[in-house]
Amino acid sequence: MLRLGVLASGRGSNLQALIDAIEAGSLAARLSIVISDNPHAQALERARRHGAQAVVIALEGERAAFEDRLVAALFAAGVDLVVLAGFMRLLGKRFLSRLPCPVMNIHPSLLPAFRGLRAQQQALDYGVKVAGCTVHFVDEGMDTGPIILQKAVPVKENDTEADLAARILAEEHQLLPAAVRLFAEGRLRLEGRKVRILPEKQ
Ligand code: GRF
Repeated sequence: MLRLGVLASGRGSNLQALIDAIEAGSLAARLSIVISDNPHAQALERARRHGAQAVVIALEGERAAFEDRLVAALFAAGVDLVVLAGFMRLLGKRFLSRLPCPVMNIHPSLLPAFRGLRAQQQALDYGVKVAGCTVHFVDEGMDTGPIILQKAVPVKENDTEADLAARILAEEHQLLPAAVRLFAEGRLRLEGRKVRILPEKQ
């Protein structure tokens, strides 16, 4: 069974969506470890409630040392896939090259539009009529890796940042477990920067 490692800095509602899918039996995976750089992250509490290992690794001093500690913890947990679910730190080449498995991220925009922080506010400021979310494999750039799944939502006339964020978040909670499920089923094939989704095995 797929062993998952999740990195989360805050609320952890996307982590919860993964936990709910696992507990409902709709995602054949085991949550091996949740790591947060923030000791107060609600994500840690959600992990413990599920019975998963919850670890704090804070960024103190050198970023290289921080990344090495993350890799060591994920390696020790024997994870097959790492999911960044609201992890607020950029992970560099060092992390990615030392990690023995792929990394996925969930981002609240239709990439490649609105990379980085406050993507929903960026979308409102730009005036787009359609927003959404993206699950992608992580590469060395910021929100630039190969796209796995995307879902669009409408932007409504008087949306605030919170309104749009909530509409997108509801879709994130479907999209992230769906992407992890495809990975668990061996149905994602990377071809250059494109992710091919293979048909369901009969
Ligand atoms: C989500 O909007 C996610 O797309 C972004 O950070 C937010 C995390 O929310 N990367 P949560 O911690 O999963 O509730």
